[in-house]
Amino acid sequence: MIYMSHCALYSSATPETAGFITYTVPEQDFSLTLTQEAHQIVRSAGWLTTRKAIEAALTDALTNPHGELSIDQYKDTDAGRTARTVHRLPAAIEERLGLPVAVKGTGLDVVRSIQMGLGSRANLTDQFHFMHRLYAAQQKYHPGGIGGVLSVNRPLGLIKHSSNRPGQHTQEWLLMDRVVDAQPVEEMGICMTSGDIELAFDAHKYPDLAAIADPYGIFRDDDILFEDLATKVGEQLAPDIFSWELGDVVGHNILAQQRPDGRNTYILIDAQPNR
Ligand SMILES: Nc1ncnc2c1ncn2[C@@H]1O[C@H](COP(=O)(O)OP(=O)(O)OP(=O)(O)O)[C@@H](O)[C@H]1O
Ligand SMILES: [Mg+2]
Repeated sequence: MIYMSHCALYSSATPETAGFITYTVPEQDFSLTLTQEAHQIVRSAGWLTTRKAIEAALTDALTNPHGELSIDQYKDTDAGRTARTVHRLPAAIEERLGLPVAVKGTGLDVVRSIQMGLGSRANLTDQFHFMHRLYAAQQKYHPGGIGGVLSVNRPLGLIKHSSNRPGQHTQEWLLMDRVVDAQPVEEMGICMTSGDIELAFDAHKYPDLAAIADPYGIFRDDDILFEDLATKVGEQLAPDIFSWELGDVVGHNILAQQRPDGRNTYILIDAQPNR
């Protein structure tokens, strides 16, 4: 069982986390950090009831990682089986909060995941901070979405507590908006002249993404590399500085939602700083 009682509250103030609210229970090695927006949502929904319901949902996610609340479309792959869990919150909590919520948890089998070269996914703290920066930049510079169609998914909070799974000291949970009725953008492997395989998308199938990646229409008839999309998204989100070099802006991290007019809107659910 995860406990959230007897919380100490403080508000952190580095530029990245300005406005974040953190509750900690040091004796249980527990912390919950919420963005300002999420804090307001939880307060309006009723703090005590919400936190108890989330606590129960996380306990359930730990015991039932691939159960009916799992929303990982790749849960049958190695990464889905070992590296992470992605769940939705039970309908009653979502109704109370007034929004759909996804919870990504690290580490189902960290030892095996590392052996398979999939990484430990133990870094949801960095992902939370980075996605928050991207989300804030998109809201500031492109409130209607980049190119009117591409938005950054909103992170809500991060929960950390100790774990007694082998190879894992801390269990992390990233809470974020849950994207509903969406499909990952299709990826194709393109063999480059160097012999490397790069991921690309079909410009005809995703013309609005093509227009972002290739605003002058130079490659418009071809398959477009996700790397080119990542470059343009990085420029659009950081117009005041050089640009952000984004990694992992690939099809499985971009969910497409079909609008009534048949066109898609796109939500970037996951990105990393390019190392
Ligand atoms: N916010 C969300 N809303 C809806 N579905 C989600 C959300 N976040 C994750 N998912 C589902 O879970 C899958 C895995 O999530 P995600 O890509 O974030 O995991 P990951 O461990 O970071 O994987 P990778 O590093 O390979 O990208 C997604 O492809 C999607 O199906
Ligand atoms: Mg991902």
